[in-house]
Amino acid sequence: MSQVFCVGPVPMMKFSTLTAQKYDTPITASLNPIMVDGTGMCGCCRVEVGGVTKFACVDGPDFDATLVDWDDLRARQAAYRSEEGASLKAYEEKSCACH
Ligand code: FES
Repeated sequence: MSQVFCVGPVPMMKFSTLTAQKYDTPITASLNPIMVDGTGMCGCCRVEVGGVTKFACVDGPDFDATLVDWDDLRARQAAYRSEEGASLKAYEEKSCACH
């Protein structure tokens, strides 16, 4: 019996899952890449798995990849994109308050 494991960027894991499903092969995703503090305190690793909210650092990090809501996870990762861009711009212009 074959088994696929994936770990890496969320889009890569999503498409690995779709490919494994196409070949009817079980796939496990390790969600280490979405963790920040790894203590269950920051909430960055919150993910929907099988319709249930999980925290990768507490409940995982390994999950049945076919149960992960990849689109929701991707949307969560993009939630602060504009603020991150503004912060990077301020840093590059050296107008960041932390300098
Ligand atoms: S990494 Fe912060 S809550 Fe899981």
